[in-house]
Amino acid sequence: MSEIKTLHPVEISKLATGFPRLRRTRRTENLRRLVRETVLSPQDFIYPLLVRHGRSIREEISSLPGVYRWSLDRLSAEVEELANWGIPALILFGIPKEKDPIGRENFDEHGIVQESIRIIKRELPEMIVITDVCLCEYTDHGHCGLVREGEILNDESLEVLGRVSLSHAAAGADLVAPSGMLDGQVAAIREALDAAGYSKVGILAYAAKYASAFYGPFREAAHSAPRLGDRKSHQLDPPNVREALREVAQDIAEGADLVMVKPALAYLDVIRRVREHFHHPLAAYNVSGEYAMVKAAAQRGWIDERRIVLEILTGIKRAGADMILTYHAKEVAQWLKE
Ligand code: PBG
Repeated sequence: MSEIKTLHPVEISKLATGFPRLRRTRRTENLRRLVRETVLSPQDFIYPLLVRHGRSIREEISSLPGVYRWSLDRLSAEVEELANWGIPALILFGIPKEKDPIGRENFDEHGIVQESIRIIKRELPEMIVITDVCLCEYTDHGHCGLVREGEILNDESLEVLGRVSLSHAAAGADLVAPSGMLDGQVAAIREALDAAGYSKVGILAYAAKYASAFYGPFREAAHSAPRLGDRKSHQLDPPNVREALREVAQDIAEGADLVMVKPALAYLDVIRRVREHFHHPLAAYNVSGEYAMVKAAAQRGWIDERRIVLEILTGIKRAGADMILTYHAKEVAQWLKE
């Protein structure tokens, strides 16, 4: 007679509590979904859109495969596609016809960004239109402020940033996003907007923006690399996180409605710290270099692109970002619907 060995209830409970059974909730896809703590949605994304002069242009950026510079006549179709994928917001970057020392097209009523805003708001009024407010794409020296004797002038540049913001507000922008890391820029812009009656237009402050090599492909795309020197005199030094918290506190004190950490991947700890210290909506910018690295490796077949992208964006959200500016937005929105 073979003996079937059974465990006494006391022994069973001892076994079961001997160590935790964390694998139980990972057993099936539905269980994993049930206990999932971070869920990506197209609703989280802000899509960067580069606009330029000319007609019938959809020009791919070589270091950013899948990202294009658009001319005004092709803009509506692209924005409509974003809306169809459930992406609620975009951020505009303009490439001017001509550059000069102060960047005149930046605050021209008929500048490339101002015209783009009008087109988008006419065709899709509910699309959230954010504009990048900086001098670097518009100035011939490529710096984020006015320059005298090789030095970026802070206070003298604030008036220009106010003018740029006003022209964007007048064209219908929902949010302006100062990205130049000049001191006092948020206060100057808030004051300019309020004085002109645009109290409803908000500010998404690039509050903690680091002097990063990850912007390389964007500068090629937007023709905005500085002709001489770098951006270290105004953007944050990568080793510093307490200083980033001071920047965020300052921008909030000056009137920022939303704050941003940029870049994202090498700065996940900064995102986490900002999330824990402040209660303002927090954006993270998954920048051009982060996108380019993924695309380059994917093109060589070295990585599983889809899984890598979802893992990266989930990581940024898990770190504490409420929303992500990303060139991956469109493809991810499509994957999430499949
Ligand atoms: C400045 C600006 C930059 C980016 C966004 N706004 C470039 C810079 O600071 O040099 C970078 C975006 C990216 O790399 O994706 N106007």
